[in-house]
Amino acid sequence: MRMTGLRLHDFRGYRQVLLTPPEGVTVLVGENGAGKTNLLEAIHLCCLGRSHRTSQDKEMIRKDQETAAVQLTVERKDGRHEVGIRLFENARRKKVVYVNGKTAARVGELMGHATCVIFSPEDLSLVKEGPQARRRFLDMLLSQQQRAYFYALQTYMSALKQRNALLKSGDFRQLPAWDEQLATAAAPVIRLRRTACEMLHQQAAKHYLYIGGREQETFALQYESPLAGSGDIAGDMLYGLQQCRNEDIRRQTTCFGPHRDELALFLKNEPIKAFGSQGQMRTAALALKLAAFDLLEASQGEPPLLLLDDVLSELDPDRRRRLIARIGRAQALLTCTAREDFTGARPACVLHVKGGEITQAAD
Ligand SMILES: Nc1ncnc2c1ncn2[C@@H]1O[C@H](COP(=O)(O)OP(=O)(O)OP(=O)(O)O)[C@@H](O)[C@H]1O
Ligand SMILES: [Mg+2]
Repeated sequence: MRMTGLRLHDFRGYRQVLLTPPEGVTVLVGENGAGKTNLLEAIHLCCLGRSHRTSQDKEMIRKDQETAAVQLTVERKDGRHEVGIRLFENARRKKVVYVNGKTAARVGELMGHATCVIFSPEDLSLVKEGPQARRRFLDMLLSQQQRAYFYALQTYMSALKQRNALLKSGDFRQLPAWDEQLATAAAPVIRLRRTACEMLHQQAAKHYLYIGGREQETFALQYESPLAGSGDIAGDMLYGLQQCRNEDIRRQTTCFGPHRDELALFLKNEPIKAFGSQGQMRTAALALKLAAFDLLEASQGEPPLLLLDDVLSELDPDRRRRLIARIGRAQALLTCTAREDFTGARPACVLHVKGGEITQAAD
């Protein structure tokens, strides 16, 4: 997939920008706070309908403006895809999504047209933090891979919300009906997560060995869910909910289901969070992202866009070289604060970012 145009209007610090990156690697150089991550965020927003660093859409609207717009055009094997989003300051106005020039009825319609994998320093939280960060990683990957997953997850989350509201209301007459709904909605979510995790495991283990460069360090990833091995997910989920009912009533929340799933990470058979060094955790995060890249490439028949935010400077030269070699086949946007940071990347284009303006480097 190739990005041929990115337009921003009143997005973060940018008033108006049109970017037409060439094939290969484009490097964005600029001081801290210049607006480099903002550009990658705009691309992420077009691919997934949300920012990679905030859940508050409003933050992305340029200060004192009422609306912001971003538009991304990509060329794919099957032709041109154009996606766009408009955000509003006014809380009563929902964001509007455009696909190929038409207003989409649901945000989900955006998924899968332009796809990206973003690498950023915060990826470390994927390894270090609780299960929620890893579930989100999995959900974003699967949503990009198949729109059906995004809708299935939406259905599940809304049923979960309703069931939890019922648990809080104290009136449990409708609980059996919601148990059924939740169990049915959980099935496709768990099924798709399970398959994806098997592939993620294979790819991530390979990438860890390659980037880390140490034979004896085996990295493994495992989908942990009480229903991971179930042959009748909906049936077993219903049974699980019934078993937990008293506990759920007491705690006024649903304790059983895929919203509690974990994507467990191991290094040399030990939980990496407890035993891994900083460098090992960083390599694990990279391996996970590279595996996500592979999954998207395999399912779409072409590589997604690659966004590398400040990642190279944190790697030693060997790891950096190996990472660049791994991702060479994709169009990439790479940010850094100094030119030395991308030694070895051989960019097709170097852009300077400063004060809301983007200019082509002189040489
Ligand atoms: N809604 C907004 N309106 C105007 N400016 C904004 C808005 N949101 C963020 N900014 C500005 O964007 C800048 C941060 O941009 P960004 O995070 O892209 O920097 P960066 O180049 O990635 O820096 P670093 O190298 O530190 O990561 C800040 O200077 C901030 O003032
Ligand atoms: Mg940044």
